[in-house]
Amino acid sequence: MEELKSQIDKDNLPEHIAVIMDGNGRWAKEQGKPRVFGHKNGVKAVREISEAAAEIGVKYLTLYAFSTENWNRPTLEVNTLMRLLVDTIHREVKTLNENNIRLKAIGDLSKLPSETRKALLKGIENTKNNTRMDLILALNYSGRWDILKAVKTIAMDSRNGAIDVNAIDEEYFKSALSTSNFPDPELMIRTSGESRLSNFLLWELSYAEFHFLPIYWPDFRKQHLYESLLSYQNRERRFGMTSEQIS
Ligand code: IPE
Ligand code: IPE
Ligand code: MG
Repeated sequence: MEELKSQIDKDNLPEHIAVIMDGNGRWAKEQGKPRVFGHKNGVKAVREISEAAAEIGVKYLTLYAFSTENWNRPTLEVNTLMRLLVDTIHREVKTLNENNIRLKAIGDLSKLPSETRKALLKGIENTKNNTRMDLILALNYSGRWDILKAVKTIAMDSRNGAIDVNAIDEEYFKSALSTSNFPDPELMIRTSGESRLSNFLLWELSYAEFHFLPIYWPDFRKQHLYESLLSYQNRERRFGMTSEQIS
């Protein structure tokens, strides 16, 4: 594992990594256990990736924890996930502070159960002075929800004269998204073998590199982050240009 880590070029790190933590249910099912057992065991993987990313020098880590579509799951599963969030935040704030990591959240937090929202806001407040890395939880989040919200904000701005329609550019649009304070992720990782975006960061991932891992989320360890980073560093990011123009 140390060998993998030593191959990573510290001068070519993504500043922001986005992760779709997927496969908890299948991980549990393979062991004959209920789906929620998988969610409980996904917490260790969250700790692993947060620590590894901060140690190596990543500045922003966004974890997709609950999508707007996930409300359609069985009530027991939804309730367990919300409860697990409360417990995890309470338990992890100390470690976040020890690691100098600041907790943030994106998504429609107003629709979360009040217990969950309170724990989250408290965790955000208690880590707000940390500076090494932002750990951003996407909760009751979806890319389309965020884009629609931005469109409505901008339509209001336009109606009350705060912005001229012709002045609306990418920067202005981005400022209306819930990710306005974070740079766009350069790398997106998804576990579980699924190769889709599932409504995650639709605007922000336009030019991200994608890395799909064939493992289930509870099995994610630091070495998987190193693998993803090495894969990222072996790619040529052309942004529409030719290879010759890049080198
Ligand atoms: C990801 O694992 C966790 C959440 C979506 C909350 P899943 O629960 O989606 O697990 P699978 O994909 O069904 O195996
Ligand atoms: C995406 O995973 C959402 C999160 C990881 C929170 P899902 O398991 O909900 O995605 P789909 O439904 O399989 O695309
Ligand atoms: Mg899934």
